[in-house]
Amino acid sequence: MTHRLTELTARLGGIAYGGDYNPEQWPRDVWREDVRLMREAGVGLVTVGVFSWSRIQPKPGTYDWSMLDEVLALLHGNGIAVDLATPTAAPPPWFTRRHPDARPVTASGTRLAHGSRQCFCPSHPAYAQAADELVTALATRYAEHPALALWHVHNEWGNHNALCYCDASAAAFRTWLVARYRDLDALNEAWGTDFWSQRYGDWEEIDPPRDTTAFRNPGQELDYLRFSSDALLERHRAEAGLLRRITPRVPITTNLMGTLEKKVDAHAFARTCDVVSVDHYLPAHDPDGHIDLALNADLARGMAGGRPWLLMEHSTSAVNWQPVNTAKQPGEMRRNSLTHLARGADGLLFFQWRQSRAGAEKWHSAMVPHAGTRSRIWREVSALGAELATLAEVTGTRVHSDVALLFDWHSWWALELQARPSAHLHHLDQVRDWYEALWRENITCDVVAPGADLSRYRAVLAPNLYLLTDADAENLDRYVEHGGHLAVGCFSGVVDAHDRIRPGAHPGALRELLGIRVDEYLPLRPGQDARLEDGTTARRWAERVEPDTATTLLRFADGPQGGPARGGPAMTRNLHGRGTARYVATCPSTAALGGMVRDLCAQAGVRPAAATPPGVEAVRREGPDGSYLFLVNHTAEDATVPVGHATGLAATAVRDGLALVPCGGVAVVREDRSEPHG
Ligand code: GLA
Repeated sequence: MTHRLTELTARLGGIAYGGDYNPEQWPRDVWREDVRLMREAGVGLVTVGVFSWSRIQPKPGTYDWSMLDEVLALLHGNGIAVDLATPTAAPPPWFTRRHPDARPVTASGTRLAHGSRQCFCPSHPAYAQAADELVTALATRYAEHPALALWHVHNEWGNHNALCYCDASAAAFRTWLVARYRDLDALNEAWGTDFWSQRYGDWEEIDPPRDTTAFRNPGQELDYLRFSSDALLERHRAEAGLLRRITPRVPITTNLMGTLEKKVDAHAFARTCDVVSVDHYLPAHDPDGHIDLALNADLARGMAGGRPWLLMEHSTSAVNWQPVNTAKQPGEMRRNSLTHLARGADGLLFFQWRQSRAGAEKWHSAMVPHAGTRSRIWREVSALGAELATLAEVTGTRVHSDVALLFDWHSWWALELQARPSAHLHHLDQVRDWYEALWRENITCDVVAPGADLSRYRAVLAPNLYLLTDADAENLDRYVEHGGHLAVGCFSGVVDAHDRIRPGAHPGALRELLGIRVDEYLPLRPGQDARLEDGTTARRWAERVEPDTATTLLRFADGPQGGPARGGPAMTRNLHGRGTARYVATCPSTAALGGMVRDLCAQAGVRPAAATPPGVEAVRREGPDGSYLFLVNHTAEDATVPVGHATGLAATAVRDGLALVPCGGVAVVREDRSEPHG
C-alpha cells in the first residue's frame, strides 16, 4: 500500500468535502445549479460516474462521452476536483441480455434477474472482459483531464453479489483451490473430508458449498468465503492495474464498508489502495450508533496504517434501507462528521449530492434534499463546508493510539459457520462490547488485523479470535514476550486456519501464552446471565477454565447465580516473557469490561485522550505544528472540559482553561505545545 491522500488534500488545500454526484439523473440546467451550490457549500471533491455505465456505453462497442466531458469540464471550471469512478458496479441491461449466464446464482440455484445493481458473477469471464474494456476506455479518455484527482474503483465491492454459486464460480473456485493446496490429499486433510465420507478423488468433484441436505463442510465453506472475497479482489486488482498503467499520476481508492460488510475482507483490499476510503451508515436500531461510527473510523485508520483516510460516504440524514429510516436530529450530521474527522478522516463525503427524484434511492437523504436550499439539511451542509475550511490546519495530522484492538474477517467467518457451540456468540458483538469499554474511557485504539505489527502498542485487545493462524498466534506470543500487555476474549485460539480444532486442550493456539486450559465450553442460553464475584454480570458464554501458570483475577460467583462455571475463573492473567496475557472466559457486561480495561491500561501505562464527563467523547490528532483535541458531546447537557492553554477553533469557546462543549455539539481546540496532554 502506498499512501497518497496527501496529494489530494494538498491539491484541495485542506479537508476534502463533497459527495457522490450523479448528473446522469438530471437535465443540464440542473448541472449548472449544482456547481453553483457546490461552491456555496464549500464542496471541493465529488465522485462522478459510479452508476453511469449505461450512459457511457449505451451499446457494446459504442461509447458516448458527451455527458462526462461536459460535467468534468464544468466541475473543473468551477474549481471542483473529481474522484472518477469506474462504473463497473452496475452493468447495463444489454450486458445481461448478451450474457445471461453472467448473472449471479444463489446457494439454492436461483439465477438472479437483472433489475438492480451488481447483477454479475465476480468470476464470469464475460464480466471481466466487459469491465476491463470499459475501464481502459474511460482511463484513456480522461488520463490527462485536469479535473481528475482520484480513481474510485467500482463501488462497495461485493455489497450485493459477493457470493455466487454458478458454474463459472465453481470452475474458478477449483482453480483457487489448486493454487492453495497443490495436491488433493492436502485439501482432504484440511477439510477433514473423512468425516461423512466426503473424500475427494478428483478436483472436478468439488463444488461450491451449495444448499444441501444437512450441515455443509466447514472447511469448504470457509474456503468459499475466502475464495469469494479473493474473486472480487482479483477484479479490483485488475481494474486498479489498468488505471495504474494508464494514469500513474492518479491515486486509487475503493470505498470499503468496514464492519458493515461481512463477506469482504477489507484488510486485503485496503492493502492494494493508495488511499483508504470507507463508507459508514449509522445503524438506526442502535441508540449508541455513534460508537459503531467511532469503531469503523478507528478500523479505517487501522487499515490506513494509522495515517489519514477518507470517509467516502455517509448520510446527511435518513437512509432508505432500514425498517424505519429515522432522520438525523439537528446537529447530528455535524457531530458524526466531526467525529470522523477527529478519528483521522481527511475528507468527508456523502451519498449523495442531490437527492434523487426517481429510482430505488429517492428516499435516501442527500446534501441537496428534495426541499432544496430552504431546508435544515442544506443549512447544515453549507455550514459544515464553511466550518471545515476553518479546520484546514488539521489536515494531515495523525491520531496516535497506544492500544490496538484486533479484528479479523477470517475469524468472523469461521465463528459464525453452522453447528457451533452457540449461535449467539458473534464476532461483531464481542468487538463492539470491548470497543465500547475503551470508548467509554476515552482510550483511542487502532482497529487492526491480528497479523499487524503490534510492537508500537502498549496494550492489545483481542475480543474474539476463534480462528487463529499459526503466524498470527506467533505474532501475539512475540508481542507479549517483548513486554506487551494483551487481553484475549472467550472462545479464542480454538481452531487453525482450516477450522480444525487444535490438538490438546483448548485454547490450543494460546494455551501457553495465557497459561490456562479450558476444560469445557459452557455457552449460556439467551437471557441467562452469570454473576461474577465482584457483583457484575456476564452473558452469552462461560467456560470451565483451569489455570496452569495464570493467576485468577476474577471468578464466576459461587452458587447457581454464577452459572454453569460457578466458582471458576472468569478472568485470568499470565506473566509471559516480559509482558502479561489476560483471558476473559465470558462476555462481561460493559461495567465488568470497563473494570478490565481500566486495569489493563493502568498496567500498560495507557492514558485517556482527556478526562471528560460521561458521554463526552475525546480524541486527539497530532502533527508537527500542533495537536488538536476534539470533544464530542453525546448528552443532553452542556459540558465543560479542562483543556489548559488552548485555542478554540471554529465556533469553540475556551474560557479559563475550560472548553465549552454544548449538548449535542463538538468542540475543537488547538493545544498549547508546552502543556502535557491527557
Ligand atoms: C451505499 C452505496 C451507495 C448508496 C448508499 C445508500 O453506500 O455505495 O451507492 O446505495 O449505500 O446508503
